[in-house]
Amino acid sequence: MKKSEQEKTPYVDALKKYLKGKYTGFDVPGHHQKPLHTELSKLYTSRIYKYDVNAPRGLDNYMNPTSVIKEAQDLWADFTGAKRARFLVNGSTSGILIMLLSCLKADDKIILPRNVHKSVINGLVLSGASPVFIMPEIDLCTEIVNQISFENWKKAIDENLDAKAIFIINPTYFGATCDLEKIVKYAHSKNMLVLVDEAHGTHFYFNDKMPINAIKAGADMSTLSVHKSGGSLTQSSVLLINNDNITDYMVSKSVNLITTTSPNNTLIASLDAARKFMVFNGQKILDRILEIAKFAQSEISKIKGFKVRAREHFLKNGAYDFDETKLVIEIDKLKLNGFDIYNLLKDKYKIQIELAETYLFLCILSIGTTKKDIIKLIKALKSISSKYYDENIKYEDHHYFKSFPTIFCRPRTAFHAPLKVVNYKDALNEVSKEMIMIYPPGIPIIIPGERFSKEVIDQLEYYEKINTKVLSDHKDGKVSVIDFENWNNSEDKK
Ligand SMILES: Cc1ncc(COP(=O)(O)O)c(C=O)c1O
Repeated sequence: MKKSEQEKTPYVDALKKYLKGKYTGFDVPGHHQKPLHTELSKLYTSRIYKYDVNAPRGLDNYMNPTSVIKEAQDLWADFTGAKRARFLVNGSTSGILIMLLSCLKADDKIILPRNVHKSVINGLVLSGASPVFIMPEIDLCTEIVNQISFENWKKAIDENLDAKAIFIINPTYFGATCDLEKIVKYAHSKNMLVLVDEAHGTHFYFNDKMPINAIKAGADMSTLSVHKSGGSLTQSSVLLINNDNITDYMVSKSVNLITTTSPNNTLIASLDAARKFMVFNGQKILDRILEIAKFAQSEISKIKGFKVRAREHFLKNGAYDFDETKLVIEIDKLKLNGFDIYNLLKDKYKIQIELAETYLFLCILSIGTTKKDIIKLIKALKSISSKYYDENIKYEDHHYFKSFPTIFCRPRTAFHAPLKVVNYKDALNEVSKEMIMIYPPGIPIIIPGERFSKEVIDQLEYYEKINTKVLSDHKDGKVSVIDFENWNNSEDKK
């Protein structure tokens, strides 16, 4: 396809045409595009209703696209180099579920890093697949999880030659990437599919200074949260399919299984529009963002109490490459932890950052970032430094809970087993029925089917002590475990 073809926005054009028709509606949504006077129309103007249509003739069928949605998807596939593309209206969360459901059956083995997003664990429950976890490199300085080296991927692949697929996170939330090309090549040489969580990497497709993208590296499937770094609206994502053996039939069945039958047309239109915008502006805008990132890195590093951790640091800690749009700031000798800074920046300085951990916080620089925004951030950090820096502060030794619990059964088996609720402090050796994590960054501490170890309990105790919100089924320190006494049905145990 010629680049000029990328000027087209088939779905947006069809939507415009439909809206121009001024049809009298007897369909859903029930507001029938009327300017309802609600709190929402006061906030957004009543156009929020005018543009909200369902799936009338002319706007294609999301589940089995054949016209304007398909054309818009083909434009994404063409530009990214993938064989096919599917639009998603429930984020990369749904992209991950669809990848697992399309490629794996119950009991199929998949090799994956421990720091997977919670949707992967849900995908294991739905598909019935068996996980083989690999521990990524841990950066003890910042206490964050990095990448997995090629050698460790190779070892895991060699030890599990019966695995159907490997699952790679590239980049991580913090911008660390792995040696994707080499890992893909090795996995393919052992007949394993390569599925990539590229939720944080949409911009890799639109600027040549970014780390290599999954499709260029030869991966079989990848999911992009276009809403995170590609300029579309929240929830809209794209699934890229790069292997003809993963058929349209398999993918469509999975899309149908987990997606609403009322996909939001504004999200679909935003994917069509974002692609055109990024194709023609991504290189220039992201070049500017990289310059802004360099400026931010250098200015913030001069402020006492803050250390910017960028390429050099990440490469020393197990990453193969680094996405400079992630501004990772370590806290050094401040009378505040990352969570305090998150709150202070929001409440006092009107700055919303992406996430905080104990010793660091993360700011995302993306296509909407301006130099003015960075200057405001620098000013706020200088003010915080002047109030809270204390060179006599000594932090306790940084630590990270390095191992993960042993697996007793597949996540799906634990999901269906009977429930017992116990206090986490009494859960030693119990088998979890739930996934427990802190969010962000959403790394599971324990998943369904794993045994509570002393280390898991210590970890929960630690987060309780420092008042970090732990996501679990319960809010009062209780956890869901398997009730072995009432688990008599041998079918359940399969
Ligand atoms: C690594 C990773 N994968 C997947 C997702 C899910 O993406 P989405 O929010 O588009 O559903 C997230 C969300 O933050 C994420 O951080």
